[in-house]
Amino acid sequence: MNALNISPIAWDPSYDSEIKEIDEQHRNVLKALNEYGEILKSPSIQQIGPAAEFLVKTIMVHFKSEECLLSQTNYKHSSLHATSQQSFMARLNKSTDKLLRGDNDGYDLYQLVRDWLFSHIRSDDSVMVIKPVQEFRLAALAAKKAAARKKKHRKPTLSERLLAIGNKKIF
Ligand SMILES: [Fe+2]
Ligand SMILES: [Fe+2]
Repeated sequence: MNALNISPIAWDPSYDSEIKEIDEQHRNVLKALNEYGEILKSPSIQQIGPAAEFLVKTIMVHFKSEECLLSQTNYKHSSLHATSQQSFMARLNKSTDKLLRGDNDGYDLYQLVRDWLFSHIRSDDSVMVIKPVQEFRLAALAAKKAAARKKKHRKPTLSERLLAIGNKKIF
């Protein structure tokens, strides 16, 4: 297969999680990949280079965002996730450098991202990002609700009672 056989890849709703910002970024990566694939069909280093850099930058921004989200949780394997992303970034940068030097035609970068994207979403992220972030958000919501319940059912203190009497409130 070469660049001329590239056809756009459609987003499958099964790739969506319940974390809106992550889904949007994954869709942006796919969009950048499809645009890059289109540009590869009309080879021109002037166009291919910037499209490759944009694709890699979109992935880098996404990685940083995932790492930022994870840092807010207590997920114990977040460094494993970061290491795996760093090693993929190194592969992307190497491939892009070769392309910019004229040592490959850019199809290598396309294949790299295409073969990685959906396993990244389905395997790595579902276990190492979506699950811990969802658990963290659910726990934070439950704690907030419990605090609100506790506040609602709390007996007023003596000074609050006296203040209420002064304000003509009735408990
Ligand atoms: Fe991701
Ligand atoms: Fe990830």
